[in-house]
Amino acid sequence: MNSKVLISPSILSADFGRLNDDIATVEPHVDSLHVDVMDRHFVPNLTFGAPVVRCIKTSLPLECHLMVEHPENYLEDFQKAGAHLFIFHVETTKDPLGLISKIHELGMKAGVSLNPETPVSSVEGLLQDVDSVLVMSVHPGFGGQVFIPDALDKIRHIRSLNVNLEIAVDGGINAETGKQCVEAGATVLVAGSFIFGAADRLAAIQSLRV
Ligand code: DX5
Ligand code: ZN
Repeated sequence: MNSKVLISPSILSADFGRLNDDIATVEPHVDSLHVDVMDRHFVPNLTFGAPVVRCIKTSLPLECHLMVEHPENYLEDFQKAGAHLFIFHVETTKDPLGLISKIHELGMKAGVSLNPETPVSSVEGLLQDVDSVLVMSVHPGFGGQVFIPDALDKIRHIRSLNVNLEIAVDGGINAETGKQCVEAGATVLVAGSFIFGAADRLAAIQSLRV
């Protein structure tokens, strides 16, 4: 068993009508919760904002993945809602270092994400300042998509630039693609449909650690 990889279920694939009950089914077996916030501008889908995040009952760290334009507008709201890690997309800001400073000033960890078509060079200058990088292995917006294998090279490249960084991967993760990502250097696996869609969620989570 790979006890080092961290598992972060994406609640996008949970039942929002019984969100806290669904979270309770995975809580004892995972390391954090992945919370997908979409604004229908940066991505072609709309989810929820800080008021819903505030209602999440868990002792797990909340990693909030903001697929939104102008992420700087949401910092205080998400900090007050209990976000531990605030992940923004590098494509959404001209001043990523300024944004990272503000996230840290509010006591949150800072993560930067990059889309499948965005090169590693766009985050290279941030790797000493962020707490984690989230590599998108699907085009963001929807759960249940197929893993894009180019993400593996991107993970390897980022790992070669910083040996200690937390590298998470998001989209199309299952037992097979998760293993490939860990071998490439990922330390966090985000998985939505694979975990919440499984008949046996515990078995699905355990298969990601193998
Ligand atoms: C996609 C989201 C993902 C999504 C992953 O835009 O950022 O976190 O929930 O879903 P699966 O694991 O089903 O690909
Ligand atoms: Zn996500």
